[in-house]
Amino acid sequence: MTYEEKLKWFNEARFGIYVHFGLYSLLGRGEWVMYSERIPAKEYAKLADSFYPKSGCAKEWVEIAKAAGAKYMVLTTRHHDGFCLFDSKYSDFTSVNHGCKRDIIREYVEAAREAGMKVGFYYSLLDWRFPGYFEPEKYPESKDALLKQVFGQVRELMTNYGQIDVLEYDGGWDSSGLKPRSECAEFWHAAELNTMVRELQPQIIINDRSGKDEDIETPEQVVIGGKERMTESCMCIGDSCGWGYVRFNPNWKSAEQLLQHLVQAAQLGGNYLLNIGPCPDGSVRNEEIERLLQVGKWLGENEEAIRNSSSCDLIGAAQPGFLDLNLHGPWTRKGNVGYWCIFRWPGSVATAIRIAAPVKKVTMLVTGKEYPFTWDEKNGKLVISGLPALPPDPLATVLKVEFDGIPRRMAEDDLAAWIDYKHHQQL
Ligand code: GLC
Repeated sequence: MTYEEKLKWFNEARFGIYVHFGLYSLLGRGEWVMYSERIPAKEYAKLADSFYPKSGCAKEWVEIAKAAGAKYMVLTTRHHDGFCLFDSKYSDFTSVNHGCKRDIIREYVEAAREAGMKVGFYYSLLDWRFPGYFEPEKYPESKDALLKQVFGQVRELMTNYGQIDVLEYDGGWDSSGLKPRSECAEFWHAAELNTMVRELQPQIIINDRSGKDEDIETPEQVVIGGKERMTESCMCIGDSCGWGYVRFNPNWKSAEQLLQHLVQAAQLGGNYLLNIGPCPDGSVRNEEIERLLQVGKWLGENEEAIRNSSSCDLIGAAQPGFLDLNLHGPWTRKGNVGYWCIFRWPGSVATAIRIAAPVKKVTMLVTGKEYPFTWDEKNGKLVISGLPALPPDPLATVLKVEFDGIPRRMAEDDLAAWIDYKHHQQL
């Protein structure tokens, strides 16, 4: 299977939902709470007997993700605190042994498959309960035990739940955070680990956080394009300090911001993985649901502009600070068609510049209505007129522009040409 074949469905999807749920959710202070408050392992472990997510919670996450227009999901199977949401021979610290005594991962996998959603697993290599992670030389047996757990659990996850579409490692860094990626990869025996994963799940997409570059890069809290591999930008809906449930989380991103990120990811030819952090009982808070439904509605109407799009270098609003900026919004592209996703509506006339391919037709994506335009082949200026004075969709309106050839940014040999100085009185 080639890289392109493997990533085909992922490229079509463009949008996924990340779910951070675990023992930490009970405390409501984010998924790092054990470490950032230095809660001793034994004390933290007591929480496990109070872990009672409501029945059907995983199904609910899947339904919400589906309504948001996501095509895949990624759920934390085990985070840095070591608590597994699945049955494991390598640890007793699981939701199957404690509290609810359920395999939440199985519930999730079944619900996702039933909904036609691709299934992703997040797995943290590091586990804060092992001194051998922090001080490998001082506690070599603990380091060996941790590695045994990693290999054993990754094998379990890749064997016991049928086809898994994405594996997102995390926590591959060393405890000082200073060592180069290659050393981290050695620590985790990442090459061997990933060979095992690929033998068990040949079609799987693996991220780069084991220290070893694999299929995708997964930057956090920013939308950027990949250098060599495809990028999946992941982000919190609320403040970026916590992926797990943060009880007092005052800073929700608006549906418009979320959509801008999604479109920006698509413009760069990448994906957007948006995170929710369910409450202690597994329910999803209204602040998250409302926003996801808005995104889902928009995506349902405009998905032609997003799914399976290719990167597009027409001037848009994707690179803040870049000189050649068009404030209205970014472009996505499919073959010879450009989709101008307008977040800041210009009024009845919309102007885009430096468009190298001849323009054949302009319509509004949702209505199919055609609009008059002019395109100047010398400077590539496109002026679309007769548009509604007010934004047709308060979130974003997509203008579908059909070109003769692939729309590319026009080169500018003379940066001052546009001034037309020969006709300028002052000179
Ligand atoms: C990080 C954090 C973590 C979070 C993750 C999401 O690296 O350690 O808590 O799960 O990124 O991608």
